[in-house]
Amino acid sequence: MIFDTHAHYLDARFDEDRQDVISSLHDNNVACAVEVSAGVDDFYDIISLTEKYPFMYGTIGVHPSEVDKLNDEWLHKMEELAANDKIVAIGEIGLDYHFDDDPEPTVQKMWFKKQIELAQKVNLPLIIHSRDSAKDTLDILKETDAGKTGGVIHCFSYSKEIALECVDMGFYIGLDGPVTFKNGKKAKEVAKTVPIERLVVETDSPYMAPDPIRGTRNFSGNLKYIISEIASLRDIPYDDMEKILFDNARALYRLEDKCLN
Ligand code: NI
Repeated sequence: MIFDTHAHYLDARFDEDRQDVISSLHDNNVACAVEVSAGVDDFYDIISLTEKYPFMYGTIGVHPSEVDKLNDEWLHKMEELAANDKIVAIGEIGLDYHFDDDPEPTVQKMWFKKQIELAQKVNLPLIIHSRDSAKDTLDILKETDAGKTGGVIHCFSYSKEIALECVDMGFYIGLDGPVTFKNGKKAKEVAKTVPIERLVVETDSPYMAPDPIRGTRNFSGNLKYIISEIASLRDIPYDDMEKILFDNARALYRLEDKCLN
């Protein structure tokens, strides 16, 4: 069975058939999935979604592109919502310097640190989003001692050396579609290098569809392509790889007793 550690089924691209897609997951060999929050508008919908589907878990967190909407009142509310049994992480939070019209780095950094503090307070792992911001991300993770809380660097896009540094701090590395791309050399190197017990897989649905269906709307059933690529890169039989990644995902989200194969 497969565990999708990062999906966004609340995205508008699922408005037409959300229920059908989520209900089809079991038939596609997916046992569990985590619906990841991007902003304050997601929180209550995520909790409803996890209440509706026993095999779905959720997170509370604000993506760096959305931190303009954050304030201390929301932060307080997030602490309350994080106490819900189905909320398994704080995320996705972090830094994204890719787009010029995103909030200023100083603003992103402030809310990144405050949300790490929140995770430490409520004792939940972190889901880190980091794009074109490796140095500042690592600096903040070190400065806040975030490795002790742990979590995952999701959709990992940096070098294998940086991946190992994150693993040393205490993080998992999340791989998705790019590891299957012909030009995904960096992600393939990371998949080969990171200690096997520190790798997790994710779709980031509806984004990041893997080869051979690149460019289509993604869903958790497509994780088989990613697992298959990692299995061949590591020279491990597919079924063994699937089991290892399932167990890693449960360990990441501390769901060993709950999400059963
Ligand atoms: Ni995401």
